[in-house]
Amino acid sequence: MNEKRAEAAPGRTRRAPRPVWDGFVRLFHWGLMVSIVVAAVTGFLLGPSFIPVHVVAASLAVALVLARIVWGFAGGGYARFAGFVVGPVRLMRYARDVLARREERHVGHNPLGGAMMLALMAAVLAAGLTGWAFLGAGAKLGPFAFVLAFAASPVLAELHEAVAFAILALVALHVAGVVFTSRREGENLVRAMVTGEKGVGPQDIVPPQREPRTGAALGVGLALALVLGAAIAAPVFLPVPGAPVAEIDPTVRAECTDCHMFYHPSLLPAGDWRRIMATLDDHYGEDASLDADTAAEITAWLTAHAAESADTRASKVFRLDPAGGVTRITETPFWKARHAGIGDAAFRSAEVGSRANCAACHADAESGWFNPFFAEIEG
Ligand code: HEC
Ligand code: HEC
Repeated sequence: MNEKRAEAAPGRTRRAPRPVWDGFVRLFHWGLMVSIVVAAVTGFLLGPSFIPVHVVAASLAVALVLARIVWGFAGGGYARFAGFVVGPVRLMRYARDVLARREERHVGHNPLGGAMMLALMAAVLAAGLTGWAFLGAGAKLGPFAFVLAFAASPVLAELHEAVAFAILALVALHVAGVVFTSRREGENLVRAMVTGEKGVGPQDIVPPQREPRTGAALGVGLALALVLGAAIAAPVFLPVPGAPVAEIDPTVRAECTDCHMFYHPSLLPAGDWRRIMATLDDHYGEDASLDADTAAEITAWLTAHAAESADTRASKVFRLDPAGGVTRITETPFWKARHAGIGDAAFRSAEVGSRANCAACHADAESGWFNPFFAEIEG
């Protein structure tokens, strides 16, 4: 055994194993690791169809962090923030001591480890906040659906991505810190986080022992879960600003669904509806003419509930360009880009039949939402 290292880690040979990390701290640690890995893989590597998995995993990470914050005030000695969170002066002193190889050994989190933990938890909360804000603006889901316009979604997406990269950087630093400290102290910290036990020597620093207040922590956690759950579910029960009109005009349904699915008025701007309605005698190769009164009635309803009246993603992305010769949604750049991964055969299959048969793959097509959560290739 190396003499020098044994000297640098006083008491190394006389450490008695003691329970340090309680069950919740270990569950938090490994649960957070798994949920961050799943969120990172689904967010960075897999396509938009994995958004639901991403949202669930990332929200679980946020829930774990919130629970850990509660436990940081209510848990036992090693779990409490008071036992390991230090100010910048003591943090710098500890960092200098580490560089000079003369730092004290903390049985719980050392000051640098504690700071890393706070930084990671803050980053996870920031990722959750920007992620839910993006979902609110872009997909009108969750509490931010009531306050953020679709126009904010590109900025929020960038912000969310920047925070996600920060988490990756912090995780890399954290792993490096664990490897470094494990070697320096001659104790496998990864195993300690599994078993919960660490060796405690006579000169080691131990935080003041406190009785965990489990009941209070459960109460606060439950209240927090109820409030957040209600906020996230609110758009399902309350009218969201900019939601596409839900009640479909019976005349439009009667006259415009004989040959194809119902196209929601919010999919196109009013100008495009006027053009389509003015050229019904030559309607995509068919004669769909109507008497003047019916046509006027339908035009009025379509233009009143056109894209301008909605704030959904689907209402913003298809702006047909008559000057450029584009008169089909399926020929717009957005549509082509988002469906580029779908083979020709899928559109020609018996269940779908045409690219314009959106409802075959989008279960919510009639509503005008086109939420990516409900997009599925049939057949
Ligand atoms: C006689 C049959 C017929 C009737 C009636 C009809 N359509 Fe169509 N419509 C078509 C065909 C065919 C297409 C092209 C579909 C395709 O490419 O698969 C089409 C396409 C469309 C599209 C374009 C979809 C895209 O890909 O961009 C819109 C919008 C549309 N119809 C609206 C209407 C409206 C509004 C009415 C009622 C006033 C109506 N249609 C009535 C036959 C009809
Ligand atoms: C063959 C199946 C299929 C048909 C037909 C289809 N889509 Fe899609 N669409 C998908 C799939 C699958 C996705 C998600 C792609 C992904 O996950 O990358 C998607 C994505 C979208 C999105 C993006 C959703 C978002 O917020 O990211 C919109 C908008 C959309 N489709 C609109 C339409 C419209 C409008 C039509 C009809 C004119 C249509 N789609 C026809 C399968 C289809």
